Amino acid sequence: MPKKVYIETYGCQMNLGDTEIVRSVLVDAGYEMTDSAESADYILMNTCSVRDNAERKILEKLTHFKRFKKKNRNLRVGLLGCMAKRMRETIFEQRDIVDLVVGPDEYRRLPEIFAIAEGGEKGIAVRLITAETYDDIEPLRTDGRSAWIAIMRGCNNFCSYCIVPYTRGRERSRPADSLVKEIEKLARDGYREVTMLGQNVNSYRDETTGADFADLLARTAEAVPDMWIRYVTSHPRDMSDRLIETMARFGNICKYIHLPVQSGSDRVLSMMNRGYTAEHYLGRIKKIREAMPNVALSTDIIAGFPGETLDDHRRTLEILEQVRYDGAYMFRYSPREGTKAWDMPDDVPEEEKIRRLNEIIDLQQKISKEINKGETGRLHKVLVEGESKRSKEDSQGRSDTNKLVIFPNPDGAIKVGEFVKVRIQRSTAATLFGEIVK
Ligand code: SAH
Ligand code: SF4
Ligand code: F3S
Repeated sequence: MPKKVYIETYGCQMNLGDTEIVRSVLVDAGYEMTDSAESADYILMNTCSVRDNAERKILEKLTHFKRFKKKNRNLRVGLLGCMAKRMRETIFEQRDIVDLVVGPDEYRRLPEIFAIAEGGEKGIAVRLITAETYDDIEPLRTDGRSAWIAIMRGCNNFCSYCIVPYTRGRERSRPADSLVKEIEKLARDGYREVTMLGQNVNSYRDETTGADFADLLARTAEAVPDMWIRYVTSHPRDMSDRLIETMARFGNICKYIHLPVQSGSDRVLSMMNRGYTAEHYLGRIKKIREAMPNVALSTDIIAGFPGETLDDHRRTLEILEQVRYDGAYMFRYSPREGTKAWDMPDDVPEEEKIRRLNEIIDLQQKISKEINKGETGRLHKVLVEGESKRSKEDSQGRSDTNKLVIFPNPDGAIKVGEFVKVRIQRSTAATLFGEIVK
């Protein structure tokens, strides 16, 4: 009987993509994947270190898996991903339940580490391998409709608050030829949408041909004209005119950009080592909107960075009002050991961080609501994802602007993976509701 592996994924989309690599490596080595933690021989957690509460959640979950180990003495528990890299020295002491620790660049070695753990020892593999891109490993995808594809790994930006460059190592890209080949195969297999992933996709560079991210996007858009193409995340400093023009030129490149601003204050942006000013950022937004008038935009915001004054905070609120994002991911600053900002006094009190964050969230909610109200009467092409969470009579999907759209689909006449046209009738801050137009 093949041994069964259960895996849970936390954190960003890179981790979702990596989990598919992990599955591929393990199934090739003769293991079987399962959806049930209770019947598994291995429980793996693909983890995130970006904020303290992300890590805390995972540590609690580990404690919870202790019950399973009492029932099944052969059960092995493994920590993968960013926490594995960050906590390699301390995790065995902190949580005796953990049997193996494998960092994001070492997934090829999983079968070897499993063998060590089966022999009764603790297995560990956490080097950062500067060249690893998993280029030759075809991810084991299960969706059949939307696919992730990591075009580059790592980050060289070293934003002062961010742990990612330490857990993921330096930037490296997969060759364009093999990416385009894989995406063409996805199209042949019936996939309708592909999302290109990287911590900083604008840094993409094909070592042999010198092709940059705009070149890769254009090549892909031409190669799979019937497929939707998305990407995350781009950096405001590197959002070139050429990239914007390429997006505008192709109908199958989705008109949605996640462009994290983090703060509206130049003083804070400089302390964050972001490499741009509010003025530069707003210039990029202007250029984007000139090229793509109906583009949807989202951002990330950090509230309460070390030294952030009320005036800095006000500038963040101002930039939200100036840009008018469709949506935002908003966080309070969480100090990460080993980063530059760790050495800056974390001097905004917790209650004040929460107050500022709530102010940001309230403003953004109001803006999202207003923008979505303006969607009434518009027609959207929507890729159907499945049943709506609210009602079996309804289906849901995403527009090319990445908005969640809900519409009646009696008897499930329209199937998952189809494109439909939906006329929007009403909305909330997070969702559009409409009706299929034939
Ligand atoms: N590479 C991507 C995403 C990085 S992590 C990018 O650069 O956009 C996603 C978001 O988490 C960041 O954009 C930032 O807003 C937030 N984040 C990162 N480190 C954080 C920290 N220490 N405290 C609070 N939020 C943080
Ligand atoms: Fe972190 Fe900055 Fe790199 Fe994004 S660009 S992963 S925020 S260091
Ligand atoms: Fe988290 Fe690692 Fe992604 S820290 S956000 S899982 S790169």
